[in-house]
Amino acid sequence: MGISYDPTKGLFHLRSPGSSYVLQVLETGLVAHVFWGGALRQPVELGRIAPQLFGEAPATPVLGEAPYPRLSLDLLPQEYPAYGRTDFREPAYQVALDDGSTVTDLRYQSHQIYPGKRPLVGLPTTFVERGEDAESLDLTLADEHAGLEVVLTYTVYRELNVVTRSARFTNKGSRRLRLLRAFSGSVDFPDDRFELLQLSGAWARERHLWRRPLVPGIQAIGSTRGASSHHQNPFLALLRPETDEHHGHAYGFSLVYSGSFLAQAEVNHYGQTRVAMGIHPLNFSWLLEPGEIFQTPELILVYSDRGLNGLSQTFHDLFRRFLLRGPYRDRPRPVLLNSWEATYFNFTEERLLELAREAQALGMELFVLDDGWFGRRNDDTSSLGDWEANKAKLPRGLKGLGEAVNDLGLAFGLWVEPEMVSPDSDLYRAHPDWCLHVPGRSRSLGRNQLVLDLTREEVRRFIVDRIGAILRSAPIAYVKWDMNRYMTEVGSAGLPPERQQETAHRYILGLYQVLEELTEAFPHVLFEGCAGGGGRFDPGILYYMPQIWTSDDTDAVERLKIQYGTSIVYPLVTMGAHVSAAPNHQVGRVTPLATRGDVALFGNMGYELDVTRLDPEEKAAIQAQVVRYKRLRALIHRGDFYRLLSPFEGNETAWMVVAKDRREVLVGFYRVLAQPNPRPSRLRLVGLDPALEYELVGQGERWDGDQLMEVGLTVEPYLANTGGDFQSVVLHWRAVGPGKE
Ligand code: DGJ
Repeated sequence: MGISYDPTKGLFHLRSPGSSYVLQVLETGLVAHVFWGGALRQPVELGRIAPQLFGEAPATPVLGEAPYPRLSLDLLPQEYPAYGRTDFREPAYQVALDDGSTVTDLRYQSHQIYPGKRPLVGLPTTFVERGEDAESLDLTLADEHAGLEVVLTYTVYRELNVVTRSARFTNKGSRRLRLLRAFSGSVDFPDDRFELLQLSGAWARERHLWRRPLVPGIQAIGSTRGASSHHQNPFLALLRPETDEHHGHAYGFSLVYSGSFLAQAEVNHYGQTRVAMGIHPLNFSWLLEPGEIFQTPELILVYSDRGLNGLSQTFHDLFRRFLLRGPYRDRPRPVLLNSWEATYFNFTEERLLELAREAQALGMELFVLDDGWFGRRNDDTSSLGDWEANKAKLPRGLKGLGEAVNDLGLAFGLWVEPEMVSPDSDLYRAHPDWCLHVPGRSRSLGRNQLVLDLTREEVRRFIVDRIGAILRSAPIAYVKWDMNRYMTEVGSAGLPPERQQETAHRYILGLYQVLEELTEAFPHVLFEGCAGGGGRFDPGILYYMPQIWTSDDTDAVERLKIQYGTSIVYPLVTMGAHVSAAPNHQVGRVTPLATRGDVALFGNMGYELDVTRLDPEEKAAIQAQVVRYKRLRALIHRGDFYRLLSPFEGNETAWMVVAKDRREVLVGFYRVLAQPNPRPSRLRLVGLDPALEYELVGQGERWDGDQLMEVGLTVEPYLANTGGDFQSVVLHWRAVGPGKE
């Protein structure tokens, strides 16, 4: 593992245990991208993989520079391509100079290789706690005519097939520069025999899997909503057509950012593929006065030669070890009861305590009071911004309620939506210019609310002070941080005209600053991110809040797809998964309680229903589910996750978790619709130790690891809730004795 440099050839080799990333500085100072893929013992040179580059191609302008006068950037695979100098593909960045021109040309200046990884000021990133876990490279490029310096930073991890990238722009000249585009990274592949995998959806059906072959031209996904969005996740992967869950090559790209983004793959006329990702250039520009710096967010590149499961496991390990922070990264996450679907806005303190009492009796550990506790908030038309407890509902305030919940033996948690303001609020009446808006235009509403202008210091101060005061005022151990509308009329009264197009990114930087301050000031509080469900499920948010409410859709059948898709990038420990009532509040479907529990088990499990209305049988079932979850959560949250059967391909879904030492295995199997005279379902497990014997917990049956993997098992005999739709089963094996030869 590590980064080596061969000065005679200008070759940089970024090595991880199973992957290589090679770049080369040509004699002219251009930085070519040579290779990213499986591990090489020696870095390969550009001339060897692409000898045709140095001869002229038909109808292609050339740079005309010695020693390669026929070289065209339109064909050269590059590390950070520019606009305007013979490359007609999409550039990674574009800068306007003071004279109005937009053509730039970056050349190598110097580099530095160092142990560990440096933080990106003001931005979330993956990190290391020990210098020996990673090595980094800063590659300094410059365009002297423009007075522009760009530092490309790369990190490789010691144990993971990961490369991270980012770019830092500095105006080193004496005239203004304006960034028109600044992607975090761009990677050129020499061919286009790929399929593009993306996670797309909508509110209540987030992160569904979509896979399509690449075709010539640009295929892009992105968000222009000011949030990473329910609709597209800041992720894409290129897969070889033969790649499946278990085999084949996969290249994953994940952006550590929570705002508008663009991710695209462009195939040119010679079948070369360029993947680029970063802040969405639409309505983005950034003024760089002399001496000023702009830092892009981080882009994570993951390579797998073990199919999609291998790709996901690398992302999961990276996020669990090197992205999530705070004491809850490694601590068991509490089983919670959330009040939302139990009461919505309609509750009293007594009603909440009834729910909490029952939650405690059922074995839960945390009671969360959701929306409706502040101002005059009895529906979603008012009071966001007025963060004072509503004394009509909570006569003893949050302190009284929190203490009463604690007295029942539960921790107390609270919902907030600090980034927003209702037009009908004291905050808005006092500060009508504190929201994003554009002079002379009306202010569009989303869920009857406006977005506070987090680019402004006084607004950030207000949020940190108010939320801080609330957290100090009551025994609050958990916060659900919600955000329920996208940005429109993106403009700030706090920024001059020439900086208006910085508003959306400055907002995200402001959000990160607020989250940094609050999470640092309240390290004992477990923060859960939420954006109308999964509207901001991204690595940027996970850096501050180690779990996220995956979706407002709690239907067990819909959740199969949502959780399956989310698991492509994000570990189970990050996914809030609640058992809710039947009929389900989003789709009206009636599923068995057992199935709802079996789906939510593979996440960060909680409950969200009126537990006081359950019959004794349901209570006993929930009690047993909670006991089971507490027993298994360390395995579920820390083990290796494998997807076996996809809900996007058929009536059955299956997935499993294997402990890192391979001595424990948990399988979830789900059949959506019952069929007449069904064919038996067979599952072949993966990732086990073939030499170990495993005992099915609770049933005593013993299987050899090789039998479970090679022969597999027929699921039917284990289905507890046989008959009818929506059947499921969870099977748990533990290794017995030492391994056999
Ligand atoms: C949207 C969230 O996703 C829900 O869980 C709930 O907290 C509501 N907001 C409350 O308004």
